[in-house]
Amino acid sequence: MTRIFVPNDTGARSVGADEVAAALMNAQVVQSGLATIVRNGSRGAYWLEPLVEIDTPSGRIGFANVTVDDVAGLFADGLPDQTHAKCLGVVDALPWFAGQTRLTFARVGRIDPLSLSDYRALGGFAGLERGCTMDAKAIVDEVTVSGLRGRGGAAFPAGIKWNTVRNANAPQKYIVCNADEGDSGTFADRLLMEADPFQLIEGMTIAALAVGATRGFVYLRSEYPHAAQIFGRALTIAREAGVLGPSVLGTAHTFDITLRMGGGAYICGEETALLESLEGKRGTVRPKPPLPALTGLFGCPTVINNVLTFAAATDVLARGAHAYAGLGVDRSTGTMPFQLGGNMQRGGVVELGFGVTLRDLLERFGGGSYSGRPLRAIQVGGPLGAYLPASQWDTPLTYEHFAAIGAMLGHGGIVAFDDTVDMAAQAEFAMAFCAHESCGKCTPCRIGSTRGVEVIQRLRRRENPRLQWQVLEELCETMEFGSLCALGGLTPMPVRSVMKHFSADLLPSAGGGSVTVEVGR
Ligand SMILES: Cc1cc2nc3c(=O)[nH]c(=O)nc-3n(C[C@H](O)[C@H](O)[C@H](O)COP(=O)(O)O)c2cc1C
Ligand code: SF4
Repeated sequence: MTRIFVPNDTGARSVGADEVAAALMNAQVVQSGLATIVRNGSRGAYWLEPLVEIDTPSGRIGFANVTVDDVAGLFADGLPDQTHAKCLGVVDALPWFAGQTRLTFARVGRIDPLSLSDYRALGGFAGLERGCTMDAKAIVDEVTVSGLRGRGGAAFPAGIKWNTVRNANAPQKYIVCNADEGDSGTFADRLLMEADPFQLIEGMTIAALAVGATRGFVYLRSEYPHAAQIFGRALTIAREAGVLGPSVLGTAHTFDITLRMGGGAYICGEETALLESLEGKRGTVRPKPPLPALTGLFGCPTVINNVLTFAAATDVLARGAHAYAGLGVDRSTGTMPFQLGGNMQRGGVVELGFGVTLRDLLERFGGGSYSGRPLRAIQVGGPLGAYLPASQWDTPLTYEHFAAIGAMLGHGGIVAFDDTVDMAAQAEFAMAFCAHESCGKCTPCRIGSTRGVEVIQRLRRRENPRLQWQVLEELCETMEFGSLCALGGLTPMPVRSVMKHFSADLLPSAGGGSVTVEVGR
């Protein structure tokens, strides 16, 4: 029977995928029993959603941006009508997909997210099955050699963290998955949890085997109810299949996972605030040390990693550390699922080995601006990331290259702005965002961000700009070095990038002569 795939994904549903699926249910090919509907996850090509795909002997044929009105015309004589104006041909052959290196996202959109047999058929559980044959140290060594670094933002080597927890002597250890995904312009965690939830379960279970943990928690943001529903069902299926529970895949290992919903505060993505929140307390930052790896959830040694880090660990185990480390550049090994958004023609997840340039990503995959106007600034790494002018777009996307230009990759969010953007407003927004989201524990962030908004507003009104500029520089320095966590510590990054690269917006007369300031770092 022919399978018709209609994504059951938050993004696809927001543009009508459910209505299209309902209309297809009533279509002649389905009613007559010639075809059946599979609700897959999205492939992450959001610019094509709702993307309907139909199995054929030569591959899955896609139809882009399908509406209810299109449904009747998708088939001709019971076969996909490849002359239809919205027909894309074989989806896997589209340059947007064929040009990617999909490891973590290899299965997304291609499988029924809740089918264990689909998951296994495309390589699922290969990493965990191998992990079950290894001792804990060997698993940790494999992750260490792979060079895998945390994908949540800080890029800390996963192997070092796992080794610390493994070596800790404690009766109870925990695995915590950070699925708070608070960064603006990021959606890869959600997409993965909706499209390939068993991969996260597999990755967390590998971590549990590696450190000797028996319990895990996923901390998911409340804005992701659909992901919660799908992931919750995946947990039940995994338990029933013996993947989770008292005997993981028939071994002597015990491991189970609980899903917990956050309340929607950006700071609860910071690992120690997250742990507080998981313990039922208000989400404020804990000073470090002690590290969560030694004194984490309920005071026990805890591995806390991002969704994509756990997911990548399945590939590390399945392919072997050296194969994984062979992708990427220098200490940025493996692949990164970049998320293209903002004023971009082709928004979505593009997974590539580290080292591709930002320009290549924007042009080859992003297709330029959505508005058709010239792009002016790209913010990489969420709300705390720098705004990059065109002169920096040839920078390779690696942790090291971005650090060298005063920027960061963060969670891989890439948000584009065209030439209508007011960069002074963006700088003010950075401070306002910090003021709104600050947990209030330390003064440089709690007070500094509010003063930062005021200083930038005065600059924009041209009130004594030379003095305000100097105050803003000093404020940025105080926040960077005096804040307890990276929310206050990194807020200066976008502000400074505007001061350095877009100073004319902040000081309208900077190029005009009446006010001159020295543009610092
Ligand atoms: C303000 C703030 C927000 C953060 N939000 C997230 C988040 O939403 N998701 C995430 O994985 N990491 C987030 N982090 C990073 C975490 O503190 C931590 O580094 C991460 O969970 C570790 O996992 P990883 O090593 O796999 O990246 C945030 C950090 C800060 C300072
Ligand atoms: S920097 Fe901000 S968010 Fe972080 S601990 Fe201080 S007040 Fe809280």
